[in-house]
Amino acid sequence: MVPRKWLWTAFPAASLTGLGTVNAFELNVEDQASIRNAARTVAYNMMSQYHGNESGQIPGKLPGTWWEGGAMFMTLIQYWHWTGDTSYNEVTTQGMLWQKGKDDFFPSNDSTYLGNDDQVFWGLAAITAAELNFPEQDDQPSWLSLAQGVFNTQVPRWDMTCCNGGLRWQIYPYQAGYTTKNAISNGGLFQLAARLGRYTKNETYIQWAEKIWDWSSTTPLLKLSDWTIADTTSMATECKDHGDIQWTYNYGTYLSGAAYMYNLTNGAAKWKTAIDGYLATTMRTFFPQKLGGQVMSEISCEPSMSCDRNQDCFKGFLASWLTFMTTLVPHTAGDIIPKIQRSAVAAARQCSGGEIGTQCGRRWHQAQWDGTASLESDMSALSVISSAMVNFKHNPHPLSHDTGGTSKSNPKAGTGDDPIPQRVRRITAGGRAGASILTLLFVCGWTSVIAWMVHG
Ligand SMILES: *[C@@H]1O[C@H](CO)[C@@H](O)[C@H](O)[C@H]1NC(C)=O
Ligand SMILES: *[C@@H]1O[C@H](CO)[C@@H](O)[C@H](O)[C@H]1NC(C)=O
Ligand SMILES: *[C@@H]1O[C@H](CO)[C@@H](O)[C@H](O)[C@H]1NC(C)=O
Ligand SMILES: *[C@@H]1O[C@H](CO)[C@@H](O)[C@H](O)[C@H]1NC(C)=O
Repeated sequence: MVPRKWLWTAFPAASLTGLGTVNAFELNVEDQASIRNAARTVAYNMMSQYHGNESGQIPGKLPGTWWEGGAMFMTLIQYWHWTGDTSYNEVTTQGMLWQKGKDDFFPSNDSTYLGNDDQVFWGLAAITAAELNFPEQDDQPSWLSLAQGVFNTQVPRWDMTCCNGGLRWQIYPYQAGYTTKNAISNGGLFQLAARLGRYTKNETYIQWAEKIWDWSSTTPLLKLSDWTIADTTSMATECKDHGDIQWTYNYGTYLSGAAYMYNLTNGAAKWKTAIDGYLATTMRTFFPQKLGGQVMSEISCEPSMSCDRNQDCFKGFLASWLTFMTTLVPHTAGDIIPKIQRSAVAAARQCSGGEIGTQCGRRWHQAQWDGTASLESDMSALSVISSAMVNFKHNPHPLSHDTGGTSKSNPKAGTGDDPIPQRVRRITAGGRAGASILTLLFVCGWTSVIAWMVHG
């Protein structure tokens, strides 16, 4: 994602005449028809804002953002899994394949400004499709191979210039965020590696998952002593400082990856301890007691209603990842499922806005529609409402090659692409030389800069 200061200010709430609540869903989580109906309506609302499949448009691309397309398709694949509604399968397949680049979701139209976190969301969408046996096309690369392609382009970006490892947030020196290592990029690749590892049992993925987790835990990004996750840390301090804003998806990504590792290792203590620790923090932080303790809240931006369009997506990821986790780590189900159900009921009630009376606001804990509407809030609501199907679905768990997953492996996918394209390097070496020298000076801890000044 683009660093915050670069963002267009939050998506303007759609013109909101007709305030007031109409048509709120009183979702009954004991009744699957009720869940399906609410989910279908929210999916319809979300997709009525997507035009990528219309003539003259670019499939898979949403205006002003690239990464959200991957997140949206991931949400639709999960929606199909939970409800069986195939209405959006075609548009999902079209968008995913259009944006696949050289089988690694690094398409040249957009790749010059993408961050590692942007790319990984498409990879997570692809591994989700593989795990759920989302239909494939014979003449196209498999979902699994596209997820492998993302892994194969991200691993060479593992950065040893300082902090002894880690993925940078951004890929290019001219981007703000290039000298930052952040939770979602590292947690995203960790989760992707863990899922590839469980799906294929290939040791390379499993070892990378271990490595990314262990590295993260040497920094404030993954603080195992008190089970917190910092959003960012900077290379200028050798990854000692911490940007502590708390976001649902950072917890979701590491927790979910740990759940796959737990399942893959048959319940290894390392992963059980981590899951229990991080789940407790997640519950305490994002299901705040002062809001009743049952409904998820994006606590760092909802109280002030300052969430930007990226941030409005995050709760949906935590909701779906926690829900899948209950199938991989069965002892967590008792804690998680009631909170997903309560959050789904609350989200459905929040989907009562706009002229048509079904647009979703962001504050799930609020009884009346909060006056906002966006594709992103629809996406989050769709995710948590679909997840409430978990108790009705026979075999809800993610598959792997040895339990019926049929997506074909191609461990070489994406290796034909350049992880940091040449044409961008040339820009860096030419016009941006000054900037990159500055970047080099600032990349590592101040001690090394001082050492360089003294000895240089
Ligand atoms: C685009 O996808 C929607 C479903 O989201 C579908 O209803 C519509 O017919 C599709 N449009 C075209 C031109 O294929
Ligand atoms: C790249 O941009 C061109 C021109 O706008 C467009 O036709 C094409 O569909 C785009 N491809 C992708 C993968 O976005
Ligand atoms: C791993 O997940 C499967 C479902 O895919 C579940 O049946 C099994 O109990 C899980 N393993 C452990 C150790 O919890
Ligand atoms: C495992 O993955 C690595 C890294 O992608 C690859 O080089 C190797 O061929 C894979 N092994 C198998 C058996 O697929």
